[in-house]
Amino acid sequence: MGRAAAAAAVLAAAAACAVAGVAVGRRVSSRRKWGRVIDVLKELEEGCDTPVGRLKQVVDAVAVEMHAGLASEGGSKLRMLLTFVDNLPSGREKGTFYALDLGGTYFRVLRVQLGGQRSSILSHDVERQPIPEHLMTGRTKDLFDFIASVFKQFVEREESGSGYPLDRRRDLGFTFSFPVKQTSVSSGILMKWTKGFAIEDMVGKEVVACLQEAFTRNGLDVRVAALVNDTVGTLALGHYHDADTVAAVIIGTGTNACYVERTDAIIKCQGLLTTSGGMVVNMEWGNFWSSHLPRTSYDVDLDADSPNPNDQGFEKMISGMYLGEIVRRVILRMTLESDIFGPVSSKLSIPFILRTPLMAAMHEDDSPDLTEVERILRDILEVRDVPLKVRKLAVNVCDVVTRRAARLAAAGIVGILKKIGRDGSGGIVSGRSRPDTRMRRTVVAIEGGLYTNYGMFREYLNEAVVEILGEEVAQHVILRETEDGSGIGAALLAASNSSRNVDTVQML
Ligand code: BGC
Repeated sequence: MGRAAAAAAVLAAAAACAVAGVAVGRRVSSRRKWGRVIDVLKELEEGCDTPVGRLKQVVDAVAVEMHAGLASEGGSKLRMLLTFVDNLPSGREKGTFYALDLGGTYFRVLRVQLGGQRSSILSHDVERQPIPEHLMTGRTKDLFDFIASVFKQFVEREESGSGYPLDRRRDLGFTFSFPVKQTSVSSGILMKWTKGFAIEDMVGKEVVACLQEAFTRNGLDVRVAALVNDTVGTLALGHYHDADTVAAVIIGTGTNACYVERTDAIIKCQGLLTTSGGMVVNMEWGNFWSSHLPRTSYDVDLDADSPNPNDQGFEKMISGMYLGEIVRRVILRMTLESDIFGPVSSKLSIPFILRTPLMAAMHEDDSPDLTEVERILRDILEVRDVPLKVRKLAVNVCDVVTRRAARLAAAGIVGILKKIGRDGSGGIVSGRSRPDTRMRRTVVAIEGGLYTNYGMFREYLNEAVVEILGEEVAQHVILRETEDGSGIGAALLAASNSSRNVDTVQML
């Protein structure tokens, strides 16, 4: 070989080495980046871990906090609010009643015709409208004028169809799903906003008075016979269909639960007398907090950036308003740690852009190539061209976040059962438990988009209830989905309260 040829061979070898070196370098760097992302996932998994032992601690904490919230005003983050609903609908309610349902993503108007026999809801019509975002943070008057005008259009249509005059007096149940300090079954004061509503001039105001004024401005003659939380409406409908229903849970945009409590256990309200000896208590469990809750840095940051920091801690881990946002935060962190999702897109940095229904669609994508995941990453987050293994990673993140949420909700439900002695352990009575109590059939009515429309969430929740209670006890506990309970239940309560002219609740 001549000199020139030898030099060329050396150069070629060197170039080949360099190319190989670059390729190896790239592989090493991409492996490192992948490793970093896997670390983020692992850290998330550990942070969200909910083994059954931890869930049982949450169950105990819920039961203890329920006691504390009933013992004194402000005694717990669980508000344990009186509802003045002492009798659930009997089934004898008859006539046409209306309901307005405000508190989730949609505002709804319902007309319900009751036939006077249990389970005979003859018909119900519903109209739903998204709540314009500017009304959620504007002025009280504008929100209530919007409500009254949607109701007016609803009754105008009815009037043209059936000949009901517009000025005929209508009885209505108002579902207002925010923490309200009730003063009677049909009056109460807004304590705080949740779920992204923030109308400052409304806090501390009489809710029904605001609605009545808007009706008057719109020339409508309406009597608000019941002011109810959505959980209470759900309990009313659940109980109407099945008298063993003792509690109700909502897991939708927000989350909450209510249940029937003995009046003598409501210690903070001494001298409360009801004909039934019980009253529905609105727990406002979205505000529950315990050091046993598995909290991650994403939860801390989400809370700090929210309009209501330090409030609704349980809700921020569980409900539809927040799950997609937690996932977005995790994907953003992964993108910042490495470039496996490509460069940080401006969309990915927008809070709440990944709504929970989209997250559920990613989680439940069962196509081999995860085409739905690809579509949502591309169209919503502007994250393009991600390989299959990265799409799988996104699904993993959704799974971890949803599993934790569903299992914590399950622990909340069992916490209520424990408090009322329906968890098979006999409940807590002055710190002692009564293991001898026979397990009774116990129904919990449940509603809300997360449970109803998100199959994986529902499965995780149902599974965790059995895991915590054990199969034997869990056989007696039925989680029963109701449909439109928050609205129909309010109409039922309007019916049962409008037919009574004596107040059945007395404060001595
Ligand atoms: C509210 C509750 C409501 C729940 C479900 C929470 O944010 O505080 O009153 O029941 O959402 O809608």
